[in-house]
Amino acid sequence: MDEISKLLTAMRSSLDEDILLAGGIIKDGVQPVNDKEWQYVVSASPKRQQEFSCGRLYAHRLLDQVGFTDFVIGRDSQGCPQWPDGVVGSISHTSDFCVALLAKSIRYTSLGIDLELSGRLKASLWPRLFARSEIRQLEQISDAARRMRHAAIIFSAKEAFYKCDYPLNHRCYEFTDAEVALDETTRCLQLSISRDGGRVEYGGCYAAGMTHVMTAIVSSR
Ligand SMILES: CC(C)(COP(=O)(O)OP(=O)(O)OC[C@H]1O[C@@H](n2cnc3c(N)ncnc32)[C@H](O)[C@@H]1OP(=O)(O)O)[C@@H](O)C(=O)NCCC(=O)NCCS
Repeated sequence: MDEISKLLTAMRSSLDEDILLAGGIIKDGVQPVNDKEWQYVVSASPKRQQEFSCGRLYAHRLLDQVGFTDFVIGRDSQGCPQWPDGVVGSISHTSDFCVALLAKSIRYTSLGIDLELSGRLKASLWPRLFARSEIRQLEQISDAARRMRHAAIIFSAKEAFYKCDYPLNHRCYEFTDAEVALDETTRCLQLSISRDGGRVEYGGCYAAGMTHVMTAIVSSR
């Protein structure tokens, strides 16, 4: 099984069954799903057009499954996808893979999905991205590959959190405001963040492959 298929299988086994996930390899020559969405990237680079179209392609496959066959996925001024009423979702891509996550809003208020390469976050970047407690955790991991993977998962969870939180609250955060705890047995994660004088908790899950990691944050009703 290839890397993205393994990640998708692992994530599906962790997500509730009413959360839909689709993704794959970004291929050359993917056609835009519709002309209106194409307008968002008409002047972008071919690479950006490809990743955008692939993300939308998988998002549309999921929308078809919940009965929205001709919907145009708009975007707001920040790039946040605009889903049909009654649906929440999220999109992510790396240079080679893309993924979409979707659910009905009767049970979920928002979702966030993120894909990252696992070997890129050098220790010099950690103080900007991670809380002190997270850095302490990372420093205790002696195996270098495992440490890099762990760092990528924590970072990815913060990106997934932002995508989940933005449609609800339209807020910006510092990466160091959030703290992520991973349970390596269940592949569940908890993200807590300071807000309005208190700490707010979000739950999610993750999958780690050889080269990439995927995380999801789920906000339930
Ligand atoms: C927006 C952002 C999350 C995108 O993440 P990325 O890793 O660069 O790119 P990804 O491919 O994973 O995600 C891109 C997709 O996110 C979605 N997206 C963009 N802005 C979004 C927003 N404000 N809210 C929700 N989803 C958004 C879009 O679907 C976009 O793909 P598309 O333009 O092809 O439709 C990132 O650029 C960013 O701003 N990060 C800061 C997050 C932050 O502040 N974290 C601290 C919280 S603790």
